[in-house]
Amino acid sequence: MSKATLTLGNQTLEMPVVVGTENEVGISIGVLRGSSGAITLDPGYGNTGSCTSAITFIDGERGVLRYRGYAIEDLAAHASFVEVMHLLVYGALPTAAQLERFQHSLAHHTLLHEDMKKFYEGFPPKAQPMSVLSAMVASLSTYYETDDDLNIIRLLAKLKTIAALSYKKSIGQPFVYPRNDLDFVADFLHMMFAVPTEVYHVNEVVRKALDMLLILHADHEQNCSTSTVRMVGSSGADLFSTISTGISALSGPLHGGANTAVIKMLELIRADGSDYAKYIAKAKDRNDPFRLMGFGHRVYKQFDPRARLIKKAADQVLDQLGITDPLLAIAKNLERVALEDEYFVKRKLYPNLDFYSGIVYRAMGLPTSMFTVLFALGRLPGWIAHFKEMRDNRDRLHRPRQIYTGPMLRPIPPIEYR
Ligand code: SDX
Repeated sequence: MSKATLTLGNQTLEMPVVVGTENEVGISIGVLRGSSGAITLDPGYGNTGSCTSAITFIDGERGVLRYRGYAIEDLAAHASFVEVMHLLVYGALPTAAQLERFQHSLAHHTLLHEDMKKFYEGFPPKAQPMSVLSAMVASLSTYYETDDDLNIIRLLAKLKTIAALSYKKSIGQPFVYPRNDLDFVADFLHMMFAVPTEVYHVNEVVRKALDMLLILHADHEQNCSTSTVRMVGSSGADLFSTISTGISALSGPLHGGANTAVIKMLELIRADGSDYAKYIAKAKDRNDPFRLMGFGHRVYKQFDPRARLIKKAADQVLDQLGITDPLLAIAKNLERVALEDEYFVKRKLYPNLDFYSGIVYRAMGLPTSMFTVLFALGRLPGWIAHFKEMRDNRDRLHRPRQIYTGPMLRPIPPIEYR
């Protein structure tokens, strides 16, 4: 299949077809407007490809997710988050020597300029951590003005420091500096939970589970926040300013903010006597704004493979830590009831990666306010990989068109006649 034919009025247009390595088919419409004056219209871009990409492949119908050809299940079982960062950003799993060099580079760029700590004094104590994260990342471009590859290392290394500092600020505890003797995830946990009054020991169950959760969040092709990064980066904006916009896009409850919204929903249902039927009915009622948060996905039309892995991790982590969380039972019952309901089955609405992730984060002792920050920590290498690919491919400036539906030409009436 090498071309598509479009009939528009008395015109017949032929357009080339692009077929990807996994046989996805894209109609290349670059000639459309020039030869017909018409554009396509696809609100929400559900049927529109913005680019070709060699980073991540998703098959939503089969529940397949691969980073650079490696199955997410294999990466979660056999790789570390630092190896996956290297895979996504540089295109290959690191050799032992490359991994050592990469880890050394990351460890020696975790510190923020001491003056940046003062920025936190300006934020109110209960400042939304995602707003703090976005502001602090954008501020990095005031310290590192040259936009080069070292900034990729700086950002990969510093985001966890910025995240942990925002948490310490929110609870009024002293900042904890990064430590080079700890691995990437252990260092983050240490910065989050260590206090000067006692020696903090990283729990290996928590460290291992968080490392896997970060892998599961690391990339997801052209999702809302990654598309934002590619859009903003296409203007030539620097890495830090661009990633700051990805963080903002991720914060919305329909996207990365869903993991926080799920916990709030489960707590609401628990407080209401765990009346699942009532909330399933609300989710189905078009006149009710309530949605089953953590359910549904623009691409997956069956179980999100990441949700399967996180659900398993939830059972394991709670069991290993000896924790019973009533919200897990509520989540599982809600899933069971929903997946037996025609409304959800017909619309192919399944749990996505946000449905169970918050329960694992709670078991780790992480505060709900930080759940979306953790999503950003995981997604950072994906955003950077797409930023880099967009730049390496010299993508054009992203500038979609529109169909105008406003008033036709009209004169300006004197104010007394408005
Ligand atoms: C992420 O894109 C990515 O890859 C994102 C992500 C990533 O890794 O980057 O996977 C991460 O953002 C996961 C999604 C997290 N968001 C949520 O869990 C919020 C709850 N989910 C929904 O809001 C919704 O499912 C979306 C936003 C995720 C997807 O919405 P779509 O594709 O725009 O679908 P839609 O809103 O057009 O829904 C189609 C139908 C509608 O009903 P009808 O008009 O056919 O009657 O399904 C219904 C919707 O009302 N529906 C839901 C529902 N999700 C969709 N009904 C109840 N509860 C839900 N959660």
